[in-house]
Amino acid sequence: MARVVSGIRPTGKLHLGNYFGAVKSFLKMQEEHECFFFIADIHSLTTHPTPSDLHQNVLQVMAEHLAMGIDIEKCSLFIQSDVPAISELYTYLNMNAYIGELERSVTYKEKKATQPKNINAGLLTYPVLMAVDILAHHADLVPVGKDQQQHLEMTRTFANRFNHMYGTDYFKEPQAYSNTGELVKVPGLTGQGKMSKSSGDADTIVFDEDEAAIRKKIMRAKTDTGPTEPNMEKSEELQNLFDIMALVSDYSTIAHFDDLHQKATIRYGDLKKQLADDVVSFVAPIRERITHYKNDAAALAHAAKIGAEKANESAYKTMKEVKEIMGFRKFY
Ligand code: ADP
Ligand code: TRP
Repeated sequence: MARVVSGIRPTGKLHLGNYFGAVKSFLKMQEEHECFFFIADIHSLTTHPTPSDLHQNVLQVMAEHLAMGIDIEKCSLFIQSDVPAISELYTYLNMNAYIGELERSVTYKEKKATQPKNINAGLLTYPVLMAVDILAHHADLVPVGKDQQQHLEMTRTFANRFNHMYGTDYFKEPQAYSNTGELVKVPGLTGQGKMSKSSGDADTIVFDEDEAAIRKKIMRAKTDTGPTEPNMEKSEELQNLFDIMALVSDYSTIAHFDDLHQKATIRYGDLKKQLADDVVSFVAPIRERITHYKNDAAALAHAAKIGAEKANESAYKTMKEVKEIMGFRKFY
């Protein structure tokens, strides 16, 4: 059984891309491994959320993950700031991270370009905090997307540097992990690349959103002018809708519309209506559970507490051992 760590940034509501790209593999991993999933609320401070947004976002993400089936009996689902040892380890590891290497982080360079007015030290040392998230639990596997590979590489660098500096083999090298072997990419509704919060509201199918809004977005999704003769290739926009259909609809439904497209008799209105029906049926039970959890303060408190207990036990042990290795000795 491997140890798995993954962090979830609390930034807005979950969409279909998050579910099929991340949460679904969490659900599988919690059955097979010892998992630590956490809400990265300290990381999210780099964007300066208001106190009430910070709290609401954490609550939202917690409720969503419970609603989607993260089982607190099987894994630890915790809030990063509930584990003080993480912040303490972050202080120690920062001493062994060099400015030059941190400045070479792609995400840091991106932020520097996109938010020049808020380049705080937390952004620069983001990879150190992420390394601590992972190393605190001695993770073997870290389920992350391609954009996080460099951070993981840095985690290995920090782990090896610590080992080398102190002549130990204390930290092991975590590996990136993809559940399916290939990374799932859920396309957006606006025809451009992957479904993402950053491409705007019209692009994403959000779980915690009412049925009418979902239908409206799908009916407005980008398509093309339609096939003019049989056996034409699908345009990217149309393929996107078929790709989403492949996630939520029956095989026979997809085959039916595929066939109509091949014959050039497809009506996009019908395709979209069917897709909307199937998305709504998929989303509805999860949305109901999200609403339930958002209003069940006791269940949220219980989940957060159980998660924090497991994570604190593991991270505190690491922190104590790291201090010992580094030469901190108690005088009292
Ligand atoms: P967003 O792009 O909407 O800001 P995040 O970057 O917060 O989403 O992603 C959180 C998790 O969901 C990551 O593991 C990411 O790889 C996954 N994810 C996000 N969008 C998609 C998508 N369209 N297809 C597959 N996985 C996705
Ligand atoms: N950096 C990750 C992201 O932007 C979130 C994250 C923080 C994380 N700490 C982590 C992911 C530790 C995996 C392991 O999505």
